[in-house]
Amino acid sequence: MDTTASHRASARDKRKLLVCDSAELTDRQHRIIPLLFKNARQTAIVLRHGGQVYAYLNQCVHMVRRLDCMHDAVFDTEQGHLRCSMHGIVYDPTTGESLSVLCSGEHLESLRSAEIDGQVYLVDKRVRGLIDSSDA
Ligand code: FES
Repeated sequence: MDTTASHRASARDKRKLLVCDSAELTDRQHRIIPLLFKNARQTAIVLRHGGQVYAYLNQCVHMVRRLDCMHDAVFDTEQGHLRCSMHGIVYDPTTGESLSVLCSGEHLESLRSAEIDGQVYLVDKRVRGLIDSSDA
């Protein structure tokens, strides 16, 4: 690998934020990941649904609140939909779209994720870990 290609690969690796092992994220389960989004402290919801991994900024479209702001849960009781614990907006876990009358059609902020060699990562340019080794 030449120096330029090596530098690009290294830059790509720095943008990957490890979430967990793929085996630890089973269907209809999720992880809440603290991170920086556009340099502001936030959390992300990373979930698996129908075998696929999806990730969203943990911020309701109705008000600036985490989906788990009132209760320590982001899924409804059937684990079928994401649900904000504040006023109950229900979201499609595969698109982030509000299925409720309140904020109908609005979407959670989607984040890019990937599964690489048995591990789940956030690979979104707007996201950084809270402890970034490139800051050292
Ligand atoms: S703040 Fe989420 S439904 Fe109102």
